[in-house]
Amino acid sequence: MEDLTGKVAFVTGAASGIGLALAQGFAKEGAKVVLADIEADALKKAEGDLLASGAEVVAVQCDVSDPASVAAAADRSIEAFGKVHILCNNAGVAPAGEIDQTTPDDWKWCLGVNLMGAVHGIQSFVPKIKEQGEGGHVVNTASIAGLMALPTLGIYTATKYAVVGISETLRAELAPAGIGVSVLCPSFVKTRLHEGHRNRPAELGASPEEPNEFMAQMLAVATEPSVIAERVIRGIKRGDFYILPHTDVKAGVEARANEILAAFDLD
Ligand SMILES: NC(=O)c1ccc[n+]([C@@H]2O[C@H](COP(=O)([O-])OP(=O)(O)OC[C@H]3O[C@@H](n4cnc5c(N)ncnc54)[C@H](O)[C@@H]3O)[C@@H](O)[C@H]2O)c1
Repeated sequence: MEDLTGKVAFVTGAASGIGLALAQGFAKEGAKVVLADIEADALKKAEGDLLASGAEVVAVQCDVSDPASVAAAADRSIEAFGKVHILCNNAGVAPAGEIDQTTPDDWKWCLGVNLMGAVHGIQSFVPKIKEQGEGGHVVNTASIAGLMALPTLGIYTATKYAVVGISETLRAELAPAGIGVSVLCPSFVKTRLHEGHRNRPAELGASPEEPNEFMAQMLAVATEPSVIAERVIRGIKRGDFYILPHTDVKAGVEARANEILAAFDLD
């Protein structure tokens, strides 16, 4: 998809961080944007700021862990703009803690948002994009934690490996329909990810490890989300599958791949 002018993009987690930067980037490209997020006030502010800049946007409050909520957001998108061409499954949370210290509710929350959120997006939007017959593009936000394991982020790592996995599957499944797929795997980005507990449903209780001070320090000096959004937009235009904005983590991925390859040749 070389020209995004007039295209319609649906972005989850659009009220903050990478999702907001994606929405701003798409708007700059002349695309219409549906902003979806669970956080009502931040969503309203993002919508107001983008409208004030002259962008064509609508906001839809949506909980990506709830399939009915995502399906309703897909219907609202079509109602607002008639079509959808770009789906960004980006909303995510990152509860911390060593695996043996995590709770079933930690898993339920993080799997629900990070993995099932992407699945719900695919199930609600891809049939509509296929039916339009104009091609399209799906961007799933994974993480570098989808390509190498990070201690104390076991749940998060599990969800992000899964997002990489479903993205690889989806690429093969959607190629015949002319729909591109990308999986975004950044390292640290300056966002509010370390404060993700702000959106944890009350019925799933509090996470003992929140807020994550280590992550807060790393994110404070990390890459600006706008830089990540530029890489995603370039990736959509070029048809890049893996979008890997941070070269400083390449050695970690290489070491893992080499260990796997070497294991094939063990006696
Ligand atoms: N910040 C990083 O260092 C980093 C690195 C790699 C990957 N990521 C990924 O980037 C994505 C975006 O996160 P971010 O860093 O911008 O964090 P962020 O907290 O700034 O933004 C995440 C957004 O998702 C929304 N959200 C949370 N739960 C939701 C739900 N159930 N339904 C709908 N929206 C929900 C939040 O309200 C928030 O607006 C996540 O998938 C995250 O895992 C972030």
